[in-house]
Amino acid sequence: MKRITVVGTGYVGLVTAAGFADLGNRVVALDIDEAKIAQLRRGDMPIYEPGLAEMVERNVKAGRLSFTTSYAEAIPGAEFVFIAVGTPQAVNGEADLRYVEAAARSVAEHMTAPLIIVNKSTVPVGTGDWVAEIVRRHQKEPIPFSVVSCPEFLREGSALYDFMNPHRVVLGSLDPEAAEKVAQLHLPLRAPILITDLRTAEMIKYASNAFLATKISFINEIANICEALGADVKEVARGMGYDPRIGPLFLEAGLGFGGSCFPKDVQALARMAEDMGRHPQLLHAVLDINADRRRMAVERVAELLGGDLTGKVVGLLGLAFKPNTDDMREAPSIDIARGLLERGARVRAYDPIAMDNARRILPEVEMMPDPYTLAQGADALMVITEWNEFKQLDLERIRDAMRQPVLFDGRNIYDPARMAELGFVYRGVGRGHPLPEAVRNGAPPPGSNMAHP
Ligand code: UDX
Repeated sequence: MKRITVVGTGYVGLVTAAGFADLGNRVVALDIDEAKIAQLRRGDMPIYEPGLAEMVERNVKAGRLSFTTSYAEAIPGAEFVFIAVGTPQAVNGEADLRYVEAAARSVAEHMTAPLIIVNKSTVPVGTGDWVAEIVRRHQKEPIPFSVVSCPEFLREGSALYDFMNPHRVVLGSLDPEAAEKVAQLHLPLRAPILITDLRTAEMIKYASNAFLATKISFINEIANICEALGADVKEVARGMGYDPRIGPLFLEAGLGFGGSCFPKDVQALARMAEDMGRHPQLLHAVLDINADRRRMAVERVAELLGGDLTGKVVGLLGLAFKPNTDDMREAPSIDIARGLLERGARVRAYDPIAMDNARRILPEVEMMPDPYTLAQGADALMVITEWNEFKQLDLERIRDAMRQPVLFDGRNIYDPARMAELGFVYRGVGRGHPLPEAVRNGAPPPGSNMAHP
């Protein structure tokens, strides 16, 4: 049993705190937000994450997990302090490190014994060294400490599973002994542990997220080309995925990536590169392609409705940036709803759990109680989030409720042939499009040097 303090009770902090407590450690979770700590003490979770409430309850009852707003209570006696505060994005794409700075300073002011400070937040490369400097400057007396970077790779919606079953644990420090101690904490997870230097560990996080975002933009670019040439991107991805050098995951074409990590991290990495005089062309392309997905979705629905969206009723199936979360951060639904509204459409939406959060961001969008009410009198429906419940809909009932059976499937959850059979005017992404005129009737393939036979 080790004594751990986790600073920050957002997604990462709360999951890390609950996870380490469940592994048998004594964990104090600290947040400066008093309302949030009061809520957690009542057993009420500030975020939706499957299994989290139960895990928190179990560990609070067992006396392994507690919540506080007081550094004076949480720091003395701790052997490890995990910093898991938010690193929001400033308007110019830079990471805003004010919460990291405040946390480091408070930890320094309250430490009374040697400490290992572990940074979980996604921070620009070089932050670990900067944190060490802040701590040194704000200590009341020089007490030894080490800074270790331990980036998180948790996905929302399966964050607890990911914590307990990591593909790897990355640790970076200038102090190998401290890194080794943090490695010990992770031993029960039986994952490969990579110990490296601070900056390299910080970079591994950005490079991993940028690579995954690139995979998504890549398949979205391929989807665009598939549409133009009459190929099916879902099958293309399947065919590519068997090659172990490519792999089958993260090749789902759709409306692009959202959420709290990919958009922010790719921009931050590009920004770091530019600040150092480099030209991150690929990263810019990844972001451009992603922004285009949202414009494309609006364009596609306008096309399906004859070009003019004025007064048309468009229903959004799903609002969250991905299924199994109520998180609206950088959700494609935001840009898509705004794009539709700008073009004069009336927009309504249904999401199993994100509507409360969405109301604040999209006050002009009318929230509906279920998919069938959403479909009532709609000129078009758009699948924005691939919730399982949308895969099970009674599509005949949906079709009959609509004013016109137009469905744009932004996540490719339905089968184009079946949708056509049901009488829908259906478009998927990179599939389910009518073959363009230019490539019909045995015409020479585009990109070849052949003339018409
Ligand atoms: C991600 C990383 O997976 C995680 O390792 C990191 O720590 C934080 O960022 P998360 O943002 O929770 O996690 O979501 P994830 O499930 O990875 O999906 C990210 C976005 O990509 C979603 O908007 C999703 O819809 C989109 N996506 C994902 C695709 O469009 N296609 C895919 O094939 C996969």
